[in-house]
Amino acid sequence: MSTQATAVAHPNIALVKYWGKRDLALNLPATSSLSVTLDQFLTRTTVTWGVDQDEVVLDGAQAQGAVAQRVLDFLDLVASDRPPCRVISGSNFPVAAGLASSSSAFAALALAASAAAGRALEPAALSVLARRGSGSACRSLWGGFVHWTRGERSDGLDSHGHPIQIPEPWGLRVVVAVVHAGPKAVGSTQGMVRTRATSPVFPVFVAENEGLVLQAKQAVLARDFDALVGCMERSTTLMHASMLTAVPSVRYLKPGSLAVLDAVDDLRARGVACGWTMDAGPNVKVLCRAADAAEVERSLNGLVRAVNVLGLGGPARLVEAP
Ligand code: DP6
Repeated sequence: MSTQATAVAHPNIALVKYWGKRDLALNLPATSSLSVTLDQFLTRTTVTWGVDQDEVVLDGAQAQGAVAQRVLDFLDLVASDRPPCRVISGSNFPVAAGLASSSSAFAALALAASAAAGRALEPAALSVLARRGSGSACRSLWGGFVHWTRGERSDGLDSHGHPIQIPEPWGLRVVVAVVHAGPKAVGSTQGMVRTRATSPVFPVFVAENEGLVLQAKQAVLARDFDALVGCMERSTTLMHASMLTAVPSVRYLKPGSLAVLDAVDDLRARGVACGWTMDAGPNVKVLCRAADAAEVERSLNGLVRAVNVLGLGGPARLVEAP
C-alpha cells in the first residue's frame, strides 16, 4: 500500500547569516541566524511512500548520482526502515533568479515526506528534520521573519527555527539583482568547512554575529529599518571577509556585485532607504520598503541581467495529505 503527500515551501534569505558548522553531519551551525521568507517563489514536492523502487524527479528530469542520493538519504532520516519512495519536486523560480533553492526544497521535502510516512511532526521537529537536509531549510517552515537559534545540545534538538511574531505585517520588499546565473564554483558546505578551518576572520564573524542576530530581532520588533539594514550589512560583510580570507580564498562576488552596492549608495544619497546582502554567490538582494521598490528596481534594471521584486511569504504547508 502506498501513501502520498504534497507540500509547498518558499525560499528564505538570511539577513544575519549562517556560515560555518559546529557539526558537519548534523548541520549544526557555528552561529544563530535570522531570515525573511519570500513570497511568489516556491518549491512543490510530492512524496509517494511505498512504490516499486526509489525514484527522484527534480524539475521534470530524473535526478541521478549525488543529487538523487542526497534526497534519498534524507528520506532515510524520516524512517530508516522505509519502503522505496518516489519524490517529484519542482520550483517555479524564474530561470536564474539567483536564489538559494535548497531552503525551500528541503523544507517542502521534510513536510511532504513526514506526512506521507504517517509521522505528523510539530513545527520545531520538522525544522530540525529540514535542517539535516540543508541548514537554511530549517528557517523556511515559517513565513515572515525567522530566528534560527544555534542551540547548545550535541544532538541538535535545540537548533531550529523560531518565528518572530510581529503585531502586523511589515511591508518590506527584497529586490533580487541577478548579476550572474552560473553554478557556484564552491558549494556552501565546502565553502563553510574551508572558511572555518583556515580563515583568521571566521572567529570574528562568529563572535559578532550572535549579537547581530539579537539586535536584528529587536529591530524587527521595533520596525527600525535602518537598524535592521545595519545588522544585515555588517553580518554580510563579516561573512564575505571570512570567505575571502580562507585558504584558498572562497570568492563569490563579481565586479557586477560591487556595481550593485555602488547603486545602493547612490539610492541612499537620494534619500531612498535600502540595504544589501549577498550569499554564496554573486547576486545581490536589496531590502527596501514597499513604497521604494519601484525606484530600487529602476536603478538596478540595465545594470544587471534581471531584477525580481519579492515580498515576504508565508509558511511551508501541506496541500495534499494521505
Ligand atoms: C550563505 O543552507 O545552503 O546562504 O547547510 O550546507 O546546505 P548547507 O548550506 P546552506 O547555506 C546557506 C548559507 C548562506 C547564508 C544563510 O542562508 O544563512
